[in-house]
Amino acid sequence: MGILFKDVSYAYKGVKDDRFEAINGINLKIKDGEFVAIIGKTGSGKSTLVQHMNALLQPSKGTVEIYGNILPKKRKQKIGPIRKHVGLVFQFPEYQLFEYTVLKDIMFGPKNFGLKEEEAEKKAREAAKLVGLGDEILERSPFRISGGQMRRTAIAGILAMEPHVLVLDEPTRGLDPQGAKEVMELFNKIHEEYNKTIVLVSHDMNIVSKYAKRIIVLKDGKIVFDGNREELFLSSNFKDFSLEKPLALELMEYLSETLNIPFKPLFNEEDIISYLKELDL
Ligand SMILES: Nc1ncnc2c1ncn2[C@@H]1O[C@H](COP(=O)(O)OP(=O)(O)O)[C@@H](O)[C@H]1O
Ligand SMILES: [Mg+2]
Repeated sequence: MGILFKDVSYAYKGVKDDRFEAINGINLKIKDGEFVAIIGKTGSGKSTLVQHMNALLQPSKGTVEIYGNILPKKRKQKIGPIRKHVGLVFQFPEYQLFEYTVLKDIMFGPKNFGLKEEEAEKKAREAAKLVGLGDEILERSPFRISGGQMRRTAIAGILAMEPHVLVLDEPTRGLDPQGAKEVMELFNKIHEEYNKTIVLVSHDMNIVSKYAKRIIVLKDGKIVFDGNREELFLSSNFKDFSLEKPLALELMEYLSETLNIPFKPLFNEEDIISYLKELDL
């Protein structure tokens, strides 16, 4: 089970050149439990690609299969059951908030999928706890809480629907470094402890390499690389795609040279510190 793209292309309708394909000939398989990053320049098709994963867009050509369901070509057909598998967190998810209280906002999704009030509330409270929103926040208006809390509310709303997959389209955009770290740690926890599949769109190589083991690079709507992070950043591959080398890896290279210690492909500062301690220099 998982997500499968076969020769998928998408052309936006109603634009000047409606034959222009924002994504073109995409073949892709994402299995349960993976943490995948999708990177590429602005306009390379990342958002268009991931919006197919929860049926927000339906392919112009090819097929998309979500947990055994083929996306219908026609808009009218029911896509609710497909959408339940994959939760999409947009850029600036706080813009999706609209209810009177934080709790009601988080309950909206599960209720929409047919859960009764009490059951939806139970799921909402669990999700709120998971993202670290205290009980005192739940009765407040979602417009009278901090930016970080708004983002957590939006994320809880998606988690409350219990999707298998979380698709995150630039989830750290507009956050300060501390806020960005907190949200990423939250997603990582959701991945590790609750075994959710994560598809992360980001242009921050440090974030991408720290959390995602598999990286897909898009260029002009096509996949130009799909492999593990070591393959991408330890070869000259990343230069061909004009990507920056992750800082942690650069630090590791520098340390191995100056301290004359064996190089290890580490993408996380904490791992480097543990490694240095282990060596007992
Ligand atoms: N709603 C839209 N209508 C028309 N063209 C769009 C729309 N959204 C994106 N595009 C075009 O599709 C291409 C891919 O965009 P997008 O998927 O947003 O890329 P990315 O997320 O990598 O920045 C770009 O050329 C963009 O201008
Ligand atoms: Mg985008």
